[in-house]
Amino acid sequence: MIIIETKNLTKKFKSLVAVDDLSLQIEAGECFGLLGPNGAGKTSLIRMITAVSPSTRGEIRVLGKDLKVYARQVKAVLGVVPQLDNLDPDLTVLGNLLTFARYFSIPRKEALRRSLEVLSLFELEAKRNSQIFELSGGMKRRLLIARGLINQPRILILDEPSIGLDPQARYLVWQKLRELKAKGVTELMCTQNMEEAAALCDRVAIMNLGKILGLDTPRNLVAKYVGKEVLEVEVDSTDKEKLLKELKERRLDFEDAGNKFFVFHNEANGFATLANPEKMRRRPATLEDVFLRLTGRSLIE
Ligand SMILES: Nc1ncnc2c1ncn2[C@@H]1O[C@H](COP(=O)(O)OP(=O)(O)OP(=O)(O)O)[C@@H](O)[C@H]1O
Ligand SMILES: [Mg+2]
Repeated sequence: MIIIETKNLTKKFKSLVAVDDLSLQIEAGECFGLLGPNGAGKTSLIRMITAVSPSTRGEIRVLGKDLKVYARQVKAVLGVVPQLDNLDPDLTVLGNLLTFARYFSIPRKEALRRSLEVLSLFELEAKRNSQIFELSGGMKRRLLIARGLINQPRILILDEPSIGLDPQARYLVWQKLRELKAKGVTELMCTQNMEEAAALCDRVAIMNLGKILGLDTPRNLVAKYVGKEVLEVEVDSTDKEKLLKELKERRLDFEDAGNKFFVFHNEANGFATLANPEKMRRRPATLEDVFLRLTGRSLIE
C-alpha cells in the first residue's frame, strides 16, 4: 500500500527551484531515505510533505488524502522531527513534551505516561526537570526525536535524525528507529550520511538539485551504478597524466577527484603506469560512490 505519494511536486523560492517536479511513492511500513548533499532540496521536500510549507505546484497525498484538503487529519498521524531544534526554551524537558501532547489533544494523564515513556526510550529520564539550555546538543536532538513520538504516529518523518549525535547516541537512535519500523511505523528520513541510509533504509532516493537521480534498495543502487568494488588511487602530478591515459585506453569508468581517482572496476587489477602500487586501495563500493557516479560530486564537500 502506498502511504505517501507526491506528483509533480515543485517548490520554488523566487527563481530558485528547490524541489523540481518530483514524483515519489512511499510504501507503508518501509523506511525510505532521501540522500543528498547540502541544498539538494531534502528539507524543502519534507516541509511540504509535513504541511509546514506550501508547495508551488503539484500534489501530495498521505494515506490517500490530499494534503491541501486534509492537512489537519494528516498531521495527526505524522511524527515530525525537524532538522533544526525548535524546542521551547521557556519550558523544561518534560514541559516541552506535555505541551506538545496538547496539540494532539492527548489527555493529561496519558500525556504524562507517554512523555515518561519516550524520555526513557531515549535515555533522558534524568533530565526531565532540566531546562532546555542545560541539555547538550545531542540530548536536544534525542528530545526532538522523543517529542516526535508523542502522538504515536503511523508515519515518522525525520530530517537528519542523527546529526550531532555521538556514535553511542547514534546507535541508540538507529536501534529505536528499527524497533519502530518493526512495529509497523513507516519512516521517511533525509540524511547526508550514507552509512545511516545503508544501515536503516529499505529504499533510498539519491537527490541533487531538487531532483531524484536514482531510487532503489541501497544494495541495488550500488550494484547498478558502481559494481562490487572501487579502486582508490592516490595520484601526484607525474602519475596523473599517465594514469588518465591508461584509464581511457582501457575504457575503465572512473571519477577524477583531484589528487585521487575512483576507479569503478571489479577485476583485481593493477595499472601499468602507476609507479607506486601502494597508492592503490581496493574497497567495497558504497552509496557515496553511487552519488559520485550520478553527480560527479561528493556527498559532503
Ligand atoms: N526559505 C528559503 N528561502 C529561500 N531559499 C531557500 C529557503 N529554504 C531553502 N532554500 C533553498 O532551497 C534549496 C534547497 O534547500 P534545502 O534546505 O531543502 O536543502 P537540504 O537538502 O535540506 O540541504 P541540507 O543538507 O543543507 O539541510 C537551497 O538552494 C536553499 O538555499
Ligand atoms: Mg536540510
